Amino acid sequence: MSTLPAERPRARVTTTGLVAMKAAGDPIVMITAYDASAARLVEAAGVDVILIGDSLGMTVLGHGSTLPVTMDDMLAATAAVARASERALVVADMPFMSYQVSIEEALRNAGRLLAEGGAQAVKLEGGVVVAETVALLTDAGIPVMGHVGLTPQSVNIFGGYKLQGRDTDSAIGLVEDCLALEAAGAFAIVLELVPAELAELISEELTIPTIGIGAGAGCDGQVQVYHDLLGLGTFTPKHAKRYAEVGQAITAAVAEYVSDTRAGEFPGEAQVSHLDPEVVAALEAALPLTDEGA
Ligand code: KIV
Repeated sequence: MSTLPAERPRARVTTTGLVAMKAAGDPIVMITAYDASAARLVEAAGVDVILIGDSLGMTVLGHGSTLPVTMDDMLAATAAVARASERALVVADMPFMSYQVSIEEALRNAGRLLAEGGAQAVKLEGGVVVAETVALLTDAGIPVMGHVGLTPQSVNIFGGYKLQGRDTDSAIGLVEDCLALEAAGAFAIVLELVPAELAELISEELTIPTIGIGAGAGCDGQVQVYHDLLGLGTFTPKHAKRYAEVGQAITAAVAEYVSDTRAGEFPGEAQVSHLDPEVVAALEAALPLTDEGA
């Protein structure tokens, strides 16, 4: 039995296409990728959206949070993913402090992710407080995906990576954030670590799609971090399902290479190129090239 997805249309997924998918009840599938190799693999699997998440700070760059991620980090990763993607909508995260300082900086940085990085849209964190920025970016022709709930760039405000919107006031606050983002022109909203009942209610309130991570099955789509799904990280969050143990497979393969090399079994005949015997003979006759006694 094939595990490859059914054939999808080859045309690039668009922001308006995602809104149409919500209206049609067609679940949206989004995943992170941070390089061309991963982009090729997730494209082949048929995802609708590739997010160059600032989670690359932890998954790829070895930081303890997303806060140290720079525009240069995001531009390099976005360009690599964009070069390798064909059908999926490519969305780039705006890193910490690339959109909070001023609207001018937000416009310049978002514009760079599209013009230099090759993304088709950007994602930024926050609700009501970033609504004006979202409106101005959208007016400038830059599609924006919102992100509310647990917004990792504010981890120091939340005091950890915790479920958000658990009481009535904070739940209403999240609904207001989502409505403000929709009114500002966002084309979709990521709901991260939000109780399933709240995520479902928000999804019903909005005409734009919600994309959940740790927000239950009532969202219009799901997003997951590549490393979490594939067993490439150091731990698996509660919201993630490990579909493969790629990390273990890599370590086992590299360990085999180490032992083959140490045992003199690699490279074998299949990995080697040879000289013509006449060239070998001529070479041996010509050696040593240095004059004796010189
Ligand atoms: O950076 C990221 O990977 C994200 C997802 C968790 C939505 O923002």
